[in-house]
Amino acid sequence: MSTVSSQYPTTMEPMNTSTEQPLLQVENVAHYYGSRVGCAKVSFSLWPGEVLAIVGESGSGKSTLLNIISGRLALSEGSITYRDAAGQPYDIANLPEGAKRRLLRTEWGFVHQHPRDGLRMAVSAGGNIGERLMACGERHYGTIRNAGKEWLHRVEIPENRLDDTPASYSGGMQQRLQIARNLVSSPRLVFMDEPTGGLDVSVQAKLLDLLRHLVRNLGLAVVLVTHDLAVARLLADRMLVMHQGAVVEAGLADQVLDDPHHPYTQLLVSSILQG
Ligand SMILES: Nc1ncnc2c1ncn2[C@@H]1O[C@H](COP(=O)(O)OP(=O)(O)OP(=O)(O)O)[C@@H](O)[C@H]1O
Ligand SMILES: [Mg+2]
Repeated sequence: MSTVSSQYPTTMEPMNTSTEQPLLQVENVAHYYGSRVGCAKVSFSLWPGEVLAIVGESGSGKSTLLNIISGRLALSEGSITYRDAAGQPYDIANLPEGAKRRLLRTEWGFVHQHPRDGLRMAVSAGGNIGERLMACGERHYGTIRNAGKEWLHRVEIPENRLDDTPASYSGGMQQRLQIARNLVSSPRLVFMDEPTGGLDVSVQAKLLDLLRHLVRNLGLAVVLVTHDLAVARLLADRMLVMHQGAVVEAGLADQVLDDPHHPYTQLLVSSILQG
């Protein structure tokens, strides 16, 4: 486990001075895979409408952290509190499975790097979108179908592809459908793990543009994992830089990228500039 010198800012103080409470409060969390550190001693708060990027090289612990805070992976240490729209706190580590699944299907979204992990490939696009709405209690067929059409339109997929299965879509379309499926139910918080990974550069740029537009318009809070600093700059308000399972630097995205303090962040930023 790496030790983090206190000379670098590694915890993110709440910027919000109103009486509003953080959506997510992560305190000293860790996950160990046997004796191997997945991530350790990570703390941060996420405020409503805020986009937080978790960046770092391969194996630095980004996905482990994302999976812990979204309740998909057990905590070895620490605590995570989520507050719903009514201010009701949920202790994510000790939440019964059913309640966790309900959160993941209603208040939260999860956009996977590989669309196959987030879509049902044998079900139509409309069915993929409708399923989310039904999980939130919507039963009216016409409403569900109209929402499906509207969301295909919003993610720039022709409406006449509503009854096709995602298997007949291109990779970029599948990823846009996964985004539609996640956003149709108006979640408050969306987790994204490398949402543009695996796509070619021009498709990636279009998808990023779409994501930026949707996130800003819907006022979503997002925790975004990416190894791509350009993606973090484009989408994030704040960022955490991870190295060997630990957060080595944290702060406003532009600040960290324009004036990195930790040698590892400096290396990351300069390797991008040279690349
Ligand atoms: N299922 C697992 N079993 C054992 N060790 C694991 C497992 N998943 C991850 N690890 C280890 O935990 C550490 C963090 O891995 P993690 O997948 O979180 O990294 P990452 O930053 O998401 O990497 P990438 O950018 O390649 O997706 C690594 O040392 C990895 O080898
Ligand atoms: Mg990962």
